[in-house]
Amino acid sequence: MTKTASLIGNKNKFLILGCGYSGSFFAKTIRKFGCTVLTSSRSVSKNPNSFLFNSETGKVPDKEIFDGVTHILSCIPPDKNGNDPVLESLQSKLQNLSLEWVGYLSTTGVYGNTGGGWVSEIDQPNPYQKRSRHRLNCEKKWIESSLPVQIFRLPGIYGPGRSTFEAIKNQKIRVILKKAQVFSRIHVADITHAIIYLLQNKDSLKFHQIINIADDEPSSQIEVIQYSYDLMGLKMPNPILFEDAKKEMSPIAQSFWMENRRVSNKLLCETLGYELIYKNYKLGLKNCFLNS
Ligand SMILES: NC(=O)c1ccc[n+]([C@@H]2O[C@H](COP(=O)([O-])OP(=O)(O)OC[C@H]3O[C@@H](n4cnc5c(N)ncnc54)[C@H](OP(=O)(O)O)[C@@H]3O)[C@@H](O)[C@H]2O)c1
Repeated sequence: MTKTASLIGNKNKFLILGCGYSGSFFAKTIRKFGCTVLTSSRSVSKNPNSFLFNSETGKVPDKEIFDGVTHILSCIPPDKNGNDPVLESLQSKLQNLSLEWVGYLSTTGVYGNTGGGWVSEIDQPNPYQKRSRHRLNCEKKWIESSLPVQIFRLPGIYGPGRSTFEAIKNQKIRVILKKAQVFSRIHVADITHAIIYLLQNKDSLKFHQIINIADDEPSSQIEVIQYSYDLMGLKMPNPILFEDAKKEMSPIAQSFWMENRRVSNKLLCETLGYELIYKNYKLGLKNCFLNS
């Protein structure tokens, strides 16, 4: 067995807090390394590896869930008051464990609007939306917690079961044209595999507390939608100009279009040497199409 492969294995116990889309992909993958993996849910599940955790109702995991835990990944967004659900409910519990590593999934929303300019981890966050200010505050709380935390800033997450194909099939797609607007994206498999790569190479790589996980090619929404229609062999509807579409958009949908930035992955991919599986939306969407 190689040195790197021995860093994660059957002696490790992972708790995945918030086992939604990204958390469940991570849990499924890390189990293949022989790790014990328990996952939280807000609702009762028959899955023996699932436990209850809901910060809103005060339901905290039973004591034995934490026995022997070495790694924690939190995929839970800030609560409605802007606080971190995990730190609010479990911080002192976590501080009493012998944790090797804690991962926290954050968002690139903390960088705010750069008018299409590139942002990297060394740029000062400048959150524009209230939810992003909350997120930055949660990041700060994680850093101040003195837990061995590593923060992953993520752009739009997509993958099998959560991509433009579902939106097209469910007729929930709106083809909107906004000049010079781009979005960064990441395929769910690359979130998982980048984190596993960092864990496997923990001893040889310099530790960075904040890391962007994004693909190589920020692109316009319309390119992505056009490519999806092409793969499906369908004709894309005519685009609506953003200025016209905006009038009927919810505030949350509008806010999505108010920020324009390109998220750099140079730290992850050049400095730390992670090789993306899906370097751009075309490769990623092909995978989604084949698995839809
Ligand atoms: N979606 C995106 O494009 C995107 C982009 C950038 C960053 N992010 C962030 O990255 C993280 C992972 O994203 P995702 O899309 O994979 O998340 P997701 O599917 O929405 O899953 C979130 C999980 O958090 C749990 N949760 C929410 N509030 C909770 C609370 N108060 N107490 C306990 N559990 C709670 C949910 O529990 P249940 O399973 O019981 O519902 C769910 O498992 C999130 O923080 C998200 O905000 C998302």
